[in-house]
Amino acid sequence: MKVTVFGIGYVGLVQAAVMADFGHEVMCVDVDQAKVDNLKKGIIPIFEPGLTPLVETNYKEGRLHFTTDAKQGVEFGELQFIAVGTPPDEDGSADLKYVLAVARTIAQYQNGYKVVIDKSTVPVGTADKVDAAIAEVLKERDVDYDYSVVSNPEFLKEGAAVSDCMSPDRIVIGTDDEQARQLIRELYAPFTRNHDRMIFMDVKSAELTKYAANCMLATKISFMNEMSNLAERLGADIEKVRQGIGSDARIGYHFIYPGCGYGGSCFPKDVQALVRTADSIGYESTLLKAVETVNYGQKEVLFKRLNDFYKADLAGKTVAIWGLSFKPNTDDMREASSRVLMESLWQAGAKVRAFDPEAMEEVQRIYGTRDDLELVGTKDAALKGADCLVICTEWKVFRAANFDDIKEQLTDPVIFDGRNLYDPEQVKRYGLAYYAMGRGDSISS
Ligand code: UDX
Repeated sequence: MKVTVFGIGYVGLVQAAVMADFGHEVMCVDVDQAKVDNLKKGIIPIFEPGLTPLVETNYKEGRLHFTTDAKQGVEFGELQFIAVGTPPDEDGSADLKYVLAVARTIAQYQNGYKVVIDKSTVPVGTADKVDAAIAEVLKERDVDYDYSVVSNPEFLKEGAAVSDCMSPDRIVIGTDDEQARQLIRELYAPFTRNHDRMIFMDVKSAELTKYAANCMLATKISFMNEMSNLAERLGADIEKVRQGIGSDARIGYHFIYPGCGYGGSCFPKDVQALVRTADSIGYESTLLKAVETVNYGQKEVLFKRLNDFYKADLAGKTVAIWGLSFKPNTDDMREASSRVLMESLWQAGAKVRAFDPEAMEEVQRIYGTRDDLELVGTKDAALKGADCLVICTEWKVFRAANFDDIKEQLTDPVIFDGRNLYDPEQVKRYGLAYYAMGRGDSISS
């Protein structure tokens, strides 16, 4: 099938490359000429395991095309994906200006029946707005082409985006139009050859499904973070509690890991957007507001702990940080807990010496060159001359640590672990103090 994807960001590029890999012909359209030129040369704007070879192969084999020419894009595919960004605007609601601009562009060049598919995460009711924007432009053009607006939210996880997209848990499709339904079934048939994972529903339910999924996951995490704060104060170990409750199939083991707060491009933005949507219709979302509040608090826990340890005198200290990205296997720093920690440390006059396997270039881009930030090439180099160690992201390379070396390198033998990577008893045997998240007496060693 011939498919057009507007927006070569995270979602658009992964979706396009995977569709091409399954044999569809895909045209990607973006306003950023440099991005398009780079993609043609095989330079991928994001770090995502498996994506580079997928893009290169499908581009070379002629199934994946890149252009800035919107007219060419609209004329190319019967199916038109909108996968542009929906950044939060000032009050936290999703800003639809890019989505609606693409809708108008599609209408401007429309030359026959089109299925317009919302892939961006958009608030309930957006499909109606996209529909109205298209209708308005077609009216201005005085043409009467048929079209259908479909909601098809994305559920991929960063770091596992390619595999999530290739074998999705479910494909949610919101449409009331039979012709669109059949075309989309055909589009996704190769993705779900062995199990039919397509779930068809009305447009608004599909739009809400995306938010409900992310808000549910964020709620699980904030719940566990609250339990971990309680465990700490009660002298219990949250890791034992986690295993204890996860064994109940109704609760499950997924997404109940306590930590230093959730980040990324989805959870913080989507929780906030649904709170705003609820507000806009006069419904106060007490639960989601609490989920957000708990997360803000959780991102401050590491700094508070350091500040207590150093009796509010962090000026002149050098803090080693392992892991900066919002989670492992990505270079994404959006809403990362490490940012809250670093910014608080700088404000308190401390220096940061950090290592992250992928995100350091991004950190440099965000913060520029500054005297109180040193980015080093290995986890060992981060320890040299540092006063203490903090772990913000659970990259695999941090799991096996040389505790003798850590003790020797640090001025104060102490680890603040925001991701509960180690067995507290083991760390203590090496003569290190270990402040983990919600692990009872480990915090007072
Ligand atoms: C998320 C959803 O998982 C995905 O389905 C959706 O399409 C987009 O949003 P992503 O943001 O890539 O994906 O990352 P995810 O793995 O969900 O992690 C989000 C944050 O939650 C990270 O900061 C992670 O560290 C944190 N987290 C996750 C926890 O603190 N505890 C957990 O148990 C799980």
